[in-house]
Amino acid sequence: ASQDAQNGEVIFKKCSACHAVGDGAKNKTGPVLTGVVGRAAGSVDGYKYGSGMQQAGANGLIWDEAHLTAYLEDPRAFLRAYLDDPKAKAKMTFKLKDSQDRRDVVAYLAGFSTH
Ligand code: HEM
Repeated sequence: ASQDAQNGEVIFKKCSACHAVGDGAKNKTGPVLTGVVGRAAGSVDGYKYGSGMQQAGANGLIWDEAHLTAYLEDPRAFLRAYLDDPKAKAKMTFKLKDSQDRRDVVAYLAGFSTH
């Protein structure tokens, strides 16, 4: 199915309790998401990631659209599978259940770059 960044903007309201995006965005409970598409996992300066996300970044995880949609479905299951570690920890407990909403919010995030 195609992606709808406008619906993604609406869906992002669920994320904005913990994340900011756009110019001048600051870390909150979660890291800034400006430029996240194409970025190395766990790489925002000044944000204290969990051990699982730090390990995923060290192992070379880059947030492309496929990895992001899989992460958003179930962050802990994603990290455990990616790291092949059934005990890996995830700091983000929020899950976005609807697959179209996942694609749309990723399309919305893809519209923000760090220049
Ligand atoms: C991490 C996206 C909702 C808390 C992340 C990361 C992404 C992301 C892409 C990894 C960033 C990186 O590696 O720099 C989203 C999106 C959301 C959402 C698109 C909505 C659909 C939430 C909510 C919370 C939250 C509602 C808080 C209740 C966190 C935390 C981390 C994180 C604490 C750090 C994870 C770790 O270190 O293991 N999020 N998030 N997120 N998010 Fe979210």
